[in-house]
Amino acid sequence: MNRYQGVIFDLDGVLCFTDQYHYQAWKAVADKLGIYFDKTINNRLRGVSRMDSLEIILERSDRKFTTEEKEAIATEKNDIYRQLLHNMSSADLSDEVRNTLLALRNAGMKLAIGSSSKNTKFILERLGLEDFFDAISDGTNITRSKPDPQVFTMAAEFIGLAPEECLVVEDAQAGVEAAKAGGFDSAGLGEAADFATYAMKTFAELKGICIG
Ligand code: BG6
Ligand code: MG
Repeated sequence: MNRYQGVIFDLDGVLCFTDQYHYQAWKAVADKLGIYFDKTINNRLRGVSRMDSLEIILERSDRKFTTEEKEAIATEKNDIYRQLLHNMSSADLSDEVRNTLLALRNAGMKLAIGSSSKNTKFILERLGLEDFFDAISDGTNITRSKPDPQVFTMAAEFIGLAPEECLVVEDAQAGVEAAKAGGFDSAGLGEAADFATYAMKTFAELKGICIG
């Protein structure tokens, strides 16, 4: 009997690495507005929704922006970001991630995505994973962003499992907090390792955590 019946994966920073594209796109709009932005600020945007990310960037500005202006800035950022995502392909899915996903699937586990990104389906297409997962819960079906557990609660519902039957895989502290708040165990990579139920150094360690 496996320890978990399902695994819910965050996307950015777990299955693929879009940080550099988010950085380049936010940097382009911040430069245009004359707002200071660097990689340390970019790190604070991990797991955070697009509009909440913009609020963090605008902390460095002296002026107030209307809702319409904010929407326009976020749209401009997303247009640049989506152009950059064209650089991604199935070559960006590592053998380690691919083989681990297949091993979990072969062990009979349900596999879902739980990502704040509204570009989830586009990114999965770029990686050649558009038909792989049993369910996708993302920025398009939630009203509350991580650290609220909604994205994971809905993913578990979509695969017909209770939170305690699922493991959440995350790279962001906000994501681990969301998992905890929803009653999920979590496996953390990078900065998330310190806060998660299981600290992982490599993605392949998931097999040992989930199977058997
Ligand atoms: C998360 C990223 O997965 O998605 C965040 O970690 C990003 O950095 C968020 O802000 C929203 O992404 P998108 O693609 O909807 O702008
Ligand atoms: Mg992430």
